[in-house]
Amino acid sequence: MENDYKHFEKLFAEALEQASTLEEVEHVEKTYLSRHGKLHELFTAMLALPPDQKKEWGQKLNILKQSSLSQIEQKKATLQDQWGEQIDVTLQKKLPLLSSFHPLSQVEREVVDIFISMGFEVWDGPEVDTEYHNFEALNIPKHHPARDMQDTFYLEKEPYVLRTQTSNMQNRILKSKKPPIRAIVPGRVFRYEATDARHDCAFYQTEGMMVDTNISVAHMRYVLATFLQALFHKEVKTRFRPGYFPFVEPGMELDFSCTICDGKGCKVCKHTGWIEFLGCGMIHPQVLKEGGIDPEQYTGFAFGFGLTRLVMMKYKIDDIRLLHSGDIRFLKQFAQ
Ligand code: DAH
Repeated sequence: MENDYKHFEKLFAEALEQASTLEEVEHVEKTYLSRHGKLHELFTAMLALPPDQKKEWGQKLNILKQSSLSQIEQKKATLQDQWGEQIDVTLQKKLPLLSSFHPLSQVEREVVDIFISMGFEVWDGPEVDTEYHNFEALNIPKHHPARDMQDTFYLEKEPYVLRTQTSNMQNRILKSKKPPIRAIVPGRVFRYEATDARHDCAFYQTEGMMVDTNISVAHMRYVLATFLQALFHKEVKTRFRPGYFPFVEPGMELDFSCTICDGKGCKVCKHTGWIEFLGCGMIHPQVLKEGGIDPEQYTGFAFGFGLTRLVMMKYKIDDIRLLHSGDIRFLKQFAQ
């Protein structure tokens, strides 16, 4: 008995010493102290001893059990202090509502997937940018009236602004690549606007551009129509109207047939059957030149649309402020 007792003490101490995670400590506890553990074997052996020894060993084994259990607890406490709160990476499966993508992110991911499938690269860009990238490189010089089209937050530290459009990446993309270029830029933009149900001073856009030899309006129309069809999973009609943007010539706006009433007329499309969707056009030769690309050799198109508006359309959200509210009752409705 004496030998078995000493043997247990030694093995238990070694096993606990080696355990370096909570799981390992729990394994030691199970192996040595559970109903089928090694200590239980000692108790069973003790029952076969003569009565006088049985009493003595019974007491000894009970003390051993208590001290072993308290060593286990101590080790667990030390490990918990050391590792801090344990993160269970499998938790998402058990509690799906605690983690889900924001509706803006869900739609952004869909948009990105569709453009990637058409061979576009995805670019990120700075939210605080120079006036040059946000305006001048886009053919909007300093005192040009076209600057009034976008109410801008100017930072005290010149020449910085909060970008008013994801078009601020056009010049960088043109400078960093040789055609063929196919790129999109999803991201947040800022306008100095009063907030109401349809306007916010921060919202999301996606910019896109394609530059190569012989690119025409026909390519633009095809790419945009294909994109809309993939996004809404159905045939969507498109139409162009003339529009003015200093960085494209000709400039256009694209509408698509209302996906809610299928073009028949409803509240969302203001009974016109059409949804105003994006600005686009053939990239102005001046913008290409500023980006180091010869407009005699290459042409291209660019477009930009409001991702926030698209999300509102898709989910019939009637107040833009809900999207930034962080209200869990609102967000839970989009949990996937
Ligand atoms: N940046 C424009 C805006 O925020 C949208 C836009 C219009 C982007 C025409 C373009 C374009 O690339 O060609 O209103």
